Amino acid sequence: MSTPDSGHPATYITTPIYYVNDRPHIGHCYTTIVADTAARLWRLVHGDPSKVFLLTGTDEHAEKVVTTAAGRGLSAIEWADQNSAAFQRVFGELNISNTDFVRTTQERHKQKVRAYIERLQQAGDVYLGDFEGWYDVNEEAYVTETKAKEQNFLGDNGKPLVRRREQNYYFRLSKYTDAVRAFIKERVRPEARANEVLARVEEGLLDVPISRPVTDDPATQFGIRMPGDEQHRVYVWIDALFNYLSVVDTPERRAFWPATAHVMGKEIIWFHAVIWPAILTALGEKLPRLVYAHCHYTRDGKKMSKSLGNFIDLETIRAYTDRFGVDGLRWYLITQGPLHTTDADFSYEKFVEVFNADLANGIGNCASRVGNMVQKYFDGVLPGPESPASDWQPATASVNFEEDALGAARIAQRELEAMHVDAAVDQGVRLVRIVDNYINATRPFSLAKVLEERPSARGELGTILYRCAEMVRIAAVLLSPALPQKMGELLASWGCTPAAGATLDQLCTFGGDHGLKPGDKIAKGEVLFMRADATLPPPTAAAPVA
Ligand code: MSP
Repeated sequence: MSTPDSGHPATYITTPIYYVNDRPHIGHCYTTIVADTAARLWRLVHGDPSKVFLLTGTDEHAEKVVTTAAGRGLSAIEWADQNSAAFQRVFGELNISNTDFVRTTQERHKQKVRAYIERLQQAGDVYLGDFEGWYDVNEEAYVTETKAKEQNFLGDNGKPLVRRREQNYYFRLSKYTDAVRAFIKERVRPEARANEVLARVEEGLLDVPISRPVTDDPATQFGIRMPGDEQHRVYVWIDALFNYLSVVDTPERRAFWPATAHVMGKEIIWFHAVIWPAILTALGEKLPRLVYAHCHYTRDGKKMSKSLGNFIDLETIRAYTDRFGVDGLRWYLITQGPLHTTDADFSYEKFVEVFNADLANGIGNCASRVGNMVQKYFDGVLPGPESPASDWQPATASVNFEEDALGAARIAQRELEAMHVDAAVDQGVRLVRIVDNYINATRPFSLAKVLEERPSARGELGTILYRCAEMVRIAAVLLSPALPQKMGELLASWGCTPAAGATLDQLCTFGGDHGLKPGDKIAKGEVLFMRADATLPPPTAAAPVA
């Protein structure tokens, strides 16, 4: 525990870089919020925000970007600028704390990609070869003969696959089969996903094309030219994968490599679990510590897709955050999301249920209950954990606050290391439940009624409320990566915003140096989360916004 990130001095979390041809939707937001929650918790673990790097960005060199832009009378880069800005804006609105935002059209990235390819060429891992196959123009990817047949020679979007023949540069993927196999077993998670990829690897790895020809068609001219051959450009997927390295490949940032975790959806695990580690091995770079592929959000049980037009889009996302707050949306996505091995449905009914149970009636109610009692019985000044009178038998003698609090922090960190951010933040929920049960068992409100007849009751009441407040503080710390705004407000109103430099263990030490002190002013319980009215119709946006 004393060595955060398993002995690694720094933590580096990445999301996929998103296609700039699409507008942001709930899927992009989900992965990015998961990664953000992880990064925020890591910052607490280190006790030093500068030790954590969170990267997201946009993947821009696609033929579609050129054609869509042309259809709108724009240049490719103008169109990319607009859409990349849309991603940056929504991530800002969702309180994503990314350290940097990469765009593959940036010079800093393009130069590095050329240098990496040169290194691969020098290592003898790149050769020119012929290729013919079925190509899905929309996905910008070749489809195997078997898959093409299965799909009736139609692409994912229903348009016919095209037969393409081209000369490409190939990367000797097959040479790295052993390294890839070991990598998958050790570092790709969840295990079920790793096993699927492994099974495919065991069928045999073929070398992969890493370039596409440049022709007279302007769509083929948008990309990074292959070093030494201007007639080819770097295949968009290879270009994109390099973002993870290019951004931290500077003297100041090198310590962040290897990545602590690449987070993504299961549909792109092949690139991250097979091609990327092989390329890194060929480059002599260290391999990422974890490749984590979550499942998908579905809508009304159906896959969200462009052809169905059923994505939860930007406008709907904003309608949700308008009604439930940014933290309300973050909470639902994180705790009910498809983080493990099954898809999860985005449902309004479930959203309201979870919002009310966890936030309004859970953490929100508990915090204001405690704040109100401190206000009412002690004028808003936190009483001390005095030794209660000897005849006082706490009804929940089994509660061990010190152990529960530190235990929650330890479990949260262990879950974080496995990228289980849902389980990590659930430790905060567990502490809230402990406080609720403790209040119900010790009944401080009843005790308050007998203060006159039994003066010793005052010490007991003070002890109970101190314990509750201190435990709510620790719960708020553990919940803050998921609910940065609301937990920030709560901690600030109790005057216990985590001090810079304090680690998670220190912050979660009950009654420790960073704990609440007798005499601290506890603000009266503001309503953190207003109970949601389940009878209202789901939030929908009236009209598209930028
Ligand atoms: N540009 C590539 C990634 C290159 S990374 C080197 C790409 N982009 S994408 O815009 O299609 O984004 C895909 C990612 O968005 C998924 O891997 C996942 O992280 C997220 N999601 C897209 N749809 C999703 C759901 N329906 N549910 C959850 N996450 C989803 O692929």
